Amino acid sequence: MTPPRSARERDIAHHLHAFTDPAAHERTGPLVIERGEGVYLIDEQGRRYLDGMASLWCCALGYNEPRLIEAAHRQLKQLPYSHTFRGRSHPAVSLLAEALLGAVGPPQSKAFFANSGSEANETAVKLAWFYNAARGRPEKRKIITREGAYHGTTVLAAALCGLPAMHEGFGFSTDCILRARCPHYYREARPGESEAQFASRLAQELDDLILAQDPATVAAFIAEPVMGVGGVIVPPAGYFEKIRPVLQRHDVLLIADEVICAFGRTGNFLGSETVGMRPDIITLAKALSSAYMPISATLVSERVYRAVRDEAGRRGIFSHGLTYSGHPVAAAVALEALAIYRERDIVGHVRTVGEHLRQGLQQFAARPLVGEVRGVGLMHAVELVADKSTREPFAGKHGLGAFLMDSAERQGLFVRAVGDTVIVAPPLIITKQEVDQLLRLFDAALRETESHAARLPPA
Ligand SMILES: Cc1ncc(COP(=O)(O)O)c(C=O)c1O
Repeated sequence: MTPPRSARERDIAHHLHAFTDPAAHERTGPLVIERGEGVYLIDEQGRRYLDGMASLWCCALGYNEPRLIEAAHRQLKQLPYSHTFRGRSHPAVSLLAEALLGAVGPPQSKAFFANSGSEANETAVKLAWFYNAARGRPEKRKIITREGAYHGTTVLAAALCGLPAMHEGFGFSTDCILRARCPHYYREARPGESEAQFASRLAQELDDLILAQDPATVAAFIAEPVMGVGGVIVPPAGYFEKIRPVLQRHDVLLIADEVICAFGRTGNFLGSETVGMRPDIITLAKALSSAYMPISATLVSERVYRAVRDEAGRRGIFSHGLTYSGHPVAAAVALEALAIYRERDIVGHVRTVGEHLRQGLQQFAARPLVGEVRGVGLMHAVELVADKSTREPFAGKHGLGAFLMDSAERQGLFVRAVGDTVIVAPPLIITKQEVDQLLRLFDAALRETESHAARLPPA
């Protein structure tokens, strides 16, 4: 009899992974995580990792929150599934919609549900198109996104990304997409330019872009309040305050992709509050259920909702929806997560513990490889450079960020490298003591990276 295959063998044999080099995977195999406890993940060998990324910026309440597990269990027993098409509803989804809109407040007045951040963003764009069609302006449909943005991986969401790797090998059309400059002060500001001047220049560039394209063809501007995957880019002070009037002048909707930022990550309930954004449409996912169930939401303002409603009466309904839109189990878990965020004052906790993490990471700013330490709340990044004075990056082939990430993993800490920017975004429940442990492990990984960099051949 052949012995049963291990999880590792089965995975190599049958699993095509997300964002993974298949040949490398065949050689190294998966890291098999078996269970979680608080902010820690434990692999099949029993090794513990402090999860400095909340998995994919999502597991906000840690890995064994009994209230979320109970909420799922209760709902599974009561009603495991029922759909939300053609006006059908169930208590969990209407309670969640009410609670979400209560937490977010006006002008948002209605919530549409889906399963992922990508779907939430696609819904937002389809709503922007439908809104303009409803107002008799079907040609007003271009979407402005920014270099460095990440909005997901379904076709339109990937096209909205401002990261070249997201487009390579697919050849999809990006005709209706316009790209604005990344608000990355460290990399994009001119010598001597203040943050305020940089923000004004970006707003002027946006105005120029819309005018060059003809405002009658531009529907919406989509932006993460703080860019995540692009490398934790906090916009320069005053950026959204300056962008907003430009968009208003040209009747362009503002979509806040809050998939990472919402639910306290930036030190406010919404990332939009942290950066002064005031969006017409908000997309949410990830921490909406603390990642215990797949669920996302697109919140629309009353103005957008009314156009959609009136259009339905005239030409036809908004023909959009997913089998699992407003799934009862996901909705019940999200409702419980919202209650926990409120009852435990997660936002207040993030402010305190986030400041502790910020100060700790800032100490690395003096280290030889560190060009910039930046972030807000519990999302931070350390950017590695070859030359601190000129900000020159390392050659990509050295993979220094990946080296640090792998070194951290060997020490028992998960962080994430995008190029040579290393991101830290732990679960929102992390304690000060756990932050101290995270900093010690990061320090050890940085030291190992410094020794490695010293052995690299000169450029
Ligand atoms: C800002 C942002 N938007 C959208 C997405 C896509 O979410 P999903 O992977 O759930 O489709 C992500 C995922 O990381 C994200 O960071």
